[in-house]
Amino acid sequence: METRILCFLSLLLLPSLVPFSVSFTPLDNYLINCGSPTDQKFDNRLFLGDSSKNSSVSFSKEGSISLSNQNPPPNSPSIYHTARVFRKDSSYNFNIKKNGTHMVRFHFSPFTAQDFALTSANFSVYVNGFMVLNDFNVRDNIVKEYILKIDKDKLEIIFEPAGGKSGLAFVNAIEVFSAPRDFIVDYGAKLINANGAEEYDNISSQILETIHRINVGGPKLTPFNDTLWRTWIPDEDYLVLKSAAKRASTTHVPNYQNGGASREIAPDNVYMTLQQMNRDSTLATKFNITWKFPVGSGTVRHFVRLHFCDFVSTALGSLYFNVYINGYSAYRDLDLSSITFHVPASPAYFDFVVDSDNSGFVQISVGPSELSSPARINAILNGAEIMKLVNEQTKSAQKEKTIWVLVGSVAGGIIVLCLSTLAILLALRCRKKKPKPRPAESVGWTPLRVYGGSSHSRMSEATAYTSPGPNGYLGLKVPFADILLATNNFDRSLIVGSGGFGMVFKGVLKDNTKVAVKRGMPGSRQGLPEFQTEITVLSKIRHRHLVSLVGYCEEQSEMILVYEYMEKGPLKSHLYGSKFPPLSWKQRLEICIGSARGLHYLHTGSAQGIIHRDIKSTNILLDQNYVAKVADFGLSRSGPCLNETHVSTGVKGSFGYLDPEYFRRQQLTDKSDVYSFGVVLFEVLCARPAVDPLLAREQVNLAEWALQWQRKGMLEQIIDPHLVGQIKPDSLKKYGETAEKCLAEYGVDRPTMGDVLWNLEHVLQLQEAEPHRKRQERGNDDSSSQPRTAGIIPGVPSSSIRPEAYDGNGGSEINTSQVFSQLMTNEGR
Ligand SMILES: *[C@@H]1O[C@H](CO)[C@@H](O)[C@H](O)[C@H]1NC(C)=O
Ligand SMILES: *[C@@H]1O[C@H](CO)[C@@H](O)[C@H](O)[C@H]1NC(C)=O
Ligand SMILES: *[C@@H]1O[C@H](CO)[C@@H](O)[C@H](O)[C@H]1NC(C)=O
Ligand SMILES: *[C@@H]1O[C@H](CO)[C@@H](O)[C@H](O)[C@H]1NC(C)=O
Ligand SMILES: *[C@@H]1O[C@H](CO)[C@@H](O)[C@H](O)[C@H]1NC(C)=O
Ligand SMILES: *[C@@H]1O[C@H](CO)[C@@H](O)[C@H](O)[C@H]1NC(C)=O
Repeated sequence: METRILCFLSLLLLPSLVPFSVSFTPLDNYLINCGSPTDQKFDNRLFLGDSSKNSSVSFSKEGSISLSNQNPPPNSPSIYHTARVFRKDSSYNFNIKKNGTHMVRFHFSPFTAQDFALTSANFSVYVNGFMVLNDFNVRDNIVKEYILKIDKDKLEIIFEPAGGKSGLAFVNAIEVFSAPRDFIVDYGAKLINANGAEEYDNISSQILETIHRINVGGPKLTPFNDTLWRTWIPDEDYLVLKSAAKRASTTHVPNYQNGGASREIAPDNVYMTLQQMNRDSTLATKFNITWKFPVGSGTVRHFVRLHFCDFVSTALGSLYFNVYINGYSAYRDLDLSSITFHVPASPAYFDFVVDSDNSGFVQISVGPSELSSPARINAILNGAEIMKLVNEQTKSAQKEKTIWVLVGSVAGGIIVLCLSTLAILLALRCRKKKPKPRPAESVGWTPLRVYGGSSHSRMSEATAYTSPGPNGYLGLKVPFADILLATNNFDRSLIVGSGGFGMVFKGVLKDNTKVAVKRGMPGSRQGLPEFQTEITVLSKIRHRHLVSLVGYCEEQSEMILVYEYMEKGPLKSHLYGSKFPPLSWKQRLEICIGSARGLHYLHTGSAQGIIHRDIKSTNILLDQNYVAKVADFGLSRSGPCLNETHVSTGVKGSFGYLDPEYFRRQQLTDKSDVYSFGVVLFEVLCARPAVDPLLAREQVNLAEWALQWQRKGMLEQIIDPHLVGQIKPDSLKKYGETAEKCLAEYGVDRPTMGDVLWNLEHVLQLQEAEPHRKRQERGNDDSSSQPRTAGIIPGVPSSSIRPEAYDGNGGSEINTSQVFSQLMTNEGR
């Protein structure tokens, strides 16, 4: 609901906000014209001479020289006519007023003057103790840019000439300024490597060096055109196949506010041009556009930020495309429209951290998604930034020195001269990369979503957080110490799953209860809304077929949820892709019935009803007796109030299970869960994933494929081979009809969970029925088979299965004869 309000507000504010938005003013803003007594304008900004008598910048002259070029090349900017030259280790210190992300730029423009040939300079540069340039040698003009978080009140830049007494270092200009808040945040970046989707949760502790900043489909943008004075260059030279891409541009200013991007993330011009698939140049309908960006050698990780703004789609919500980085899927079935509240031309961006593949390139591709309708196939990209994670590479190269110091405080004008009396103690931060456990795809605890990405997840974090109140749910609070004990201090060998939210550990509480401990990534607030939802939902309800929350812990900025331990894990791993023995048809039916019962209780058991939103086979867990329980309420929402028929909300959920109507209309009802449950029913029958991109096209989407066979009346053709010969035809028929009904295009045509439950009970009855009885049933009354062919037996309102019958204690199973008598009554009508 919050999202809806936000959407409404943003629509309301949109026209007024955009044209009058104020340009960004950094709180820390040092622009230094090095080696010069005069201030000089450059790119519309005033760079202050660092040796001006009057300057608020002051320094010791020892060991440094102001060098000036007497014969500068024509048209070269005047800040490049001077340089500060260092003959020994020297540092600039800046007072930092605002903690957080800062940008640091060095301008190098070598020249020869007074017997100094700056082209032969060879030196290293350290920023707050981290080496950012090593044995650096410049022959041409170059600007080096770094983005880093500063969490103290000083920034120290050390220049270290190589080669002893004859060595020299230089710099022509330095920029140090604060970046907007949230420019780089720790959550929402996806790690791209062979292991699949994990989150990289610690970007802000990295120093990022800008390697490429690309205005895809547009012209070069200079610092004039950018509120953070960045330079963006065109993409054409990096296209692997130029004819695959076609430029497009718009004259309309982008609709910021909807996708979480801002002018500071990237300027208008980046979002107003793009490359899209050039389908005129080829008969092929499906191909990628690929860019290859050289990034130098070495096994260093890169931060990749991709910018999108769809102003080319003719029909809103019709563009789905895939994004690949280094050949790995980075974002599948990206639907910008669902991320930007369906406001067209809304900028959005996504962050990735890419493992090196030692090729010397970062390769980015965009290509069509399987979800696109044939007439609407396209893929776009508006901008790309590639930055090196510097200190992962040079973590050992830290610097601790006592040297002369140059102190700057431009705005305050107060000269603070710190001399080398102070030993500069640098925080020795050892950043050992912790080994990430492989993503346990077999465990379904993750609050899986359409991958949150960056701009989007930032918005949802801001808007979807609801606090349970100061006292929380006291009875459920578990002391952190108990959790450490239960998990043997989060012993990695006890990890049974991982994902976007964090890790899941197996544990044993003091009273010997076996539990699953889900630990949110420390320091990351990514999972906070899910965490709160889960506590809220699970503390309100208890049911035999819903995984119960044993407790939670919020101490020491930890977000930990403790559940009953489900011995046999997710349903999915008993269906395919693991070595568990195949389940029998009866077992499968009982599992479906159990989870339907849990879900029915969820929908009807509380006054408002709760919509799960992420029903899938990984979220149905099995205990040691194969009793099914629905898990993972992180995405759930309270149902609509009485006078409403739906809840409007950003689409969340998992592909392959998503209700197409919810997807189209953003309207959430309990029938969306029914749809997803229908997909699970086919998954259980066919023992294959809801989406399997490796299969032939018509088979990729299980729901579509199974429906085709169901409609042909040939469902038995595609069932799990282990089930062949096990299922009685009547049972299969009824089951197929039930699943088909669940997958009805429109929610109104789908049965309620109560109906589904009731029908599944019937399927089990048909399976269990003694042969003679079945014959008798058939022979008795022809009409009795008729309602079955008609699918869901009409006329039994779900309310006839009273919610109280499903209260938490599970002692409420409808017995067989009850079901039968209801069936009979109904059929008799
Ligand atoms: C010196 O400082 C004064 C006052 O801040 C300013 O008006 C003047 O322009 C400065 N002179 C130079 C050469 O920067
Ligand atoms: C920056 O953060 C550090 C550590 O959190 C703190 O000691 C320091 O006072 C902060 N400085 C400013 C200017 O806020
Ligand atoms: C720079 O100095 C280092 C260390 O003295 C040396 O190994 C390297 O070859 C030098 N590089 C150049 C380009 O002179
Ligand atoms: C960038 O800024 C310059 C200087 O203001 C202007 O002439 C140019 O048209 C701008 N470029 C774009 C693409 O807007
Ligand atoms: C696009 O590139 C990805 C990654 O290299 C590849 O898996 C996919 O098959 C390509 N798609 C098309 C349509 O060529
Ligand atoms: C992030 O990195 C910093 C510095 O290496 C480290 O102190 C911190 O513990 C890391 N945080 C996480 C969540 O890994």
